Amino acid sequence: MNEDMEWGSPAIDSSRCSVCGACAAICSTETLKMEDGKPAVKAAGDFGCIACGHCMAVCPTGAVSATGRGLAPGDAFPLPPLSARAGAGALEGLLQARRSTRRYEDRPVEKDLIERLLAMASTAPMGFPPSPVGVVVINGKEKVRELAGDLCAAFRKWRFLGTPIGSLVLRLMMSRTETALMKRFVLPIVEEIIKARENGRDLLFYDAPCVLIFHYPMKETTDPVIACSYASIAAEALGLGSCIIGTLPPAMRGSAALKRKWGLPKDNFASIAMILGHPAVKFRNGVRRRFASVEYL
Ligand SMILES: Cc1cc2nc3c(=O)[nH]c(=O)nc-3n(C[C@H](O)[C@H](O)[C@H](O)COP(=O)(O)O)c2cc1C
Repeated sequence: MNEDMEWGSPAIDSSRCSVCGACAAICSTETLKMEDGKPAVKAAGDFGCIACGHCMAVCPTGAVSATGRGLAPGDAFPLPPLSARAGAGALEGLLQARRSTRRYEDRPVEKDLIERLLAMASTAPMGFPPSPVGVVVINGKEKVRELAGDLCAAFRKWRFLGTPIGSLVLRLMMSRTETALMKRFVLPIVEEIIKARENGRDLLFYDAPCVLIFHYPMKETTDPVIACSYASIAAEALGLGSCIIGTLPPAMRGSAALKRKWGLPKDNFASIAMILGHPAVKFRNGVRRRFASVEYL
């Protein structure tokens, strides 16, 4: 059976265990429980270990290891000292400085930077470990330009939706509000992207040297969007510019050929994308943002 379809299995090395009980106290599935004053592994029933790794993360003596669902016994590592972690002030400064970047220097992104960014983004929380999010890295301006061409070709087929019969199709597939949004914003943007392409301008990826596509085995997009958000913050911390690109998924959706060509597993959906590169713009001010509403109840 696929490892992801089985429960994880925690193990306790009793020769190293200090019997502090921290692992049993934190285990949300009660796979680890105190028995006769010692932590013990409960046999997996209908619900078992989800491999959150928290038992390994709290153990002070390295006595607990979990295996399965993407985890291996050596996966716990010492955290960096507090002095090496961003405090609220540093993080706030980083978040305020992050902007969507649409102007890039004409040079590639170094592979070691991309790898570090992905390692940082892979720390993002996930609904149910292990993360089913996959990432395709399209690195190199020429390849990105080719991808933009393929997506524009896919978008050209959308022009049909602007016709009276297309409007009817939209109305059958979508709610009234979604149809209105589609007509008012999405189709005009798509048309602008196609026209810009014909004039040699790239309004999909802004001539960025790198595109990351976050894909997922379900249409639901929460996990990949969280991972992508982490990636955009990591990019800022690495001195790179980035911009989340929501226009890629709909263009790619429904095209098995595009997914095959651009390395997405056939059963996965392109959930969200992000462009990346060395920024050619320097932002000097922050821009104040607010949530639509915040209510304390
Ligand atoms: C889900 C999502 C999809 C986005 N898609 C696009 C896009 O396709 N093209 C684009 O130029 N910007 C895109 N953006 C970037 C937004 O336009 C940008 O975040 C917004 O203008 C605010 O700017 P800031 O990120 O600098 O605060 C997207 C952002 C999000 C969160």
